[in-house]
Amino acid sequence: MRDLIAIHGEPSREVYLDSENSGLIYPKALEEMVRTYKEVGYGNPSITHKIGWESYEVLYKSTEILSQILNTKSSELVYTHGATEANNLAILGSAKANKNDRKEILVSSIEHFSVIFPAERLQEQGYKIIKIPVNEHGFIDNEFLKTKVNGSTFLVSIAPINHEIGTIQNLKEIIDIVKEKNSKTLFHSDAADSFGRVRLNLNKLNLDLASFSSHKIYGPKGVGLLYIKEGLKIEPILHGQLSSQKLWPGVENIPAIAGFAEAAKIFDNMDKNMLLKMRDKLIESILSSTESVLLNGPKGPERSLDNVNLSFLYVEGEAIIVELSMQGIYASSGSACTSRVLEPSHVLIAIGRKYEEAHGSVLMRITPFNNEDDINYVIERIPKGVARLRSLSPIKGG
Ligand SMILES: Cc1ncc(COP(=O)(O)O)c(C=O)c1O
Repeated sequence: MRDLIAIHGEPSREVYLDSENSGLIYPKALEEMVRTYKEVGYGNPSITHKIGWESYEVLYKSTEILSQILNTKSSELVYTHGATEANNLAILGSAKANKNDRKEILVSSIEHFSVIFPAERLQEQGYKIIKIPVNEHGFIDNEFLKTKVNGSTFLVSIAPINHEIGTIQNLKEIIDIVKEKNSKTLFHSDAADSFGRVRLNLNKLNLDLASFSSHKIYGPKGVGLLYIKEGLKIEPILHGQLSSQKLWPGVENIPAIAGFAEAAKIFDNMDKNMLLKMRDKLIESILSSTESVLLNGPKGPERSLDNVNLSFLYVEGEAIIVELSMQGIYASSGSACTSRVLEPSHVLIAIGRKYEEAHGSVLMRITPFNNEDDINYVIERIPKGVARLRSLSPIKGG
């Protein structure tokens, strides 16, 4: 890696647009973490001495903040090491506690792999997994849902916002369909990319389980949450010491939790109009300046306020990512989690993109750390980079 970085050199300007994968932390969240580690939260909150009590106090206050923002009770929130673990706990933990013979699980075909893979693991235990199709913009096929939810449906998992193409689902309508067909069916939402982007009033939505991740809202990595509706039984999937939360065994990462709560406060209160403006400027400019470009996902208010996903035909997305990196612009190609494997994104394939269209995709997320000058720079560089790659490409057309 060092050699690669040395060859790459230091670009004169850097614009980081890869926060779908991970990225910067709010300075105040980092300060809160460091302060907590140094001063008040370095102990184990389950232990009865002064340092333990101080740590417990940080845990308690942070959970209060998060539960207020999400409109839940503190007792309905369980910390995890991120949304991957929260999704696994939601799906595997609820199945473990499932004592009846409802053994069908529906997941949308565009879910994150940390939802799809644990659901598929349950096939070994006799569960049937049904993938819900989506239309060309990534919206759930409600008619399909109506025909598939029945007395055997144990769980349905659909994210409020898609992590790759930014589609905002009509979650209330979807939950109503499911609950009307079978009120016992559990509804889980991977809300890692939805926190602060749509209002998630967990108490009002008829959700049973919802997953969150701190680094998606510019808090520290490695900490997340699972919301578990009061009264719902789920079994632990990790086993260890007797911590205060049996569903997350191990000593709570109090500094990370404090950083998560701080980031949640900042991101929730932030005026997001700037993000929206930058998103639209970037999309509109590239679509009008560059030929043979497709926008993946919907336009306008049904799209997440910070998501940009474009497919450049006749070029490999990976080549664009390296080309942009040389200019100091950091984005990702296709699905974040598949970019080390040259598989086209399952999300783009599900919305009907051809393999070559999916392979030419570039995913960018506008963040509170970006400004208009960044966007102007990206708007100027992308068309040039794409034109250069197309001029070298054997698959012309552009
Ligand atoms: C929708 C979605 N779910 C889950 C995850 C995994 O989150 P974490 O990194 O906190 O495990 C991600 C991360 O990219 C995501 O985008």
